[in-house]
Amino acid sequence: MIKILFYYKIFSLRKPKSEDAGGFIDICADKEVMRYYGCEGAFINTFEDANKQIDWCNKQFENNAGKWIIVEQEKDTYIGDIGFFNFVEEHRRVELGYRLKKEYWGKGIISNFIAQLVKYGFTKKNYNRIEATVDERNFGSKRVLLKNGFKLEGILREFEFEFNEFVNLEVYSILKREFTDIKSHEIQ
Ligand SMILES: CC(C)(COP(=O)(O)OP(=O)(O)OC[C@H]1O[C@@H](n2cnc3c(N)ncnc32)[C@H](O)[C@@H]1OP(=O)(O)O)[C@@H](O)C(=O)NCCC(=O)NCCS
Repeated sequence: MIKILFYYKIFSLRKPKSEDAGGFIDICADKEVMRYYGCEGAFINTFEDANKQIDWCNKQFENNAGKWIIVEQEKDTYIGDIGFFNFVEEHRRVELGYRLKKEYWGKGIISNFIAQLVKYGFTKKNYNRIEATVDERNFGSKRVLLKNGFKLEGILREFEFEFNEFVNLEVYSILKREFTDIKSHEIQ
């Protein structure tokens, strides 16, 4: 039996598999979810590209990181994804990313999994710094980071050109030495 490392209420995280390809395509079809999620190139609408995305998520595990699939435990089907990517060994830093199907928003799912993953990153992995870049208009994403002790470091001005306009990205991070001081990391 596979041990579940991360769970919250009826939701849990597991590694991506090829059956998730449809889930990746579905979430990309929702413009509201994708509005501030990376660039237009992040949109996937073929099984070939979805499988490449799944391979990429799994490849991250080979580099001391990894993107998990969020599922309802009973159904085991894709409702979102979350995890670490682009780990840099020399500097012990990693990036964090996440998204969730709209019908699951506002249930505390991402806040809770960020709390668990931050704790995992600083206690079970050797991370010193976890960072996230967020479109400055993405209030939900900023909120889940701030709630988890991330600090705003600065703004990458007009860093990306998306949907016919230049957009500012905000950089957030949390350091290992800050994590130990923060009570909100106690996972419920
Ligand atoms: C941003 C996102 C990940 C939040 O996930 P979620 O599971 O719905 O968030 P939670 O339920 O944990 O919400 C945590 C807090 O953020 C607030 N929040 C969530 N979405 C919000 C929004 N759109 N605007 C303002 N606040 C928001 C909640 O009210 C809650 O605040 P509270 O604890 O003070 O009550 C989700 O909306 C999403 O997938 N968005 C699209 C993809 C995306 O933008 N990903 C991030 C790319 S950087």
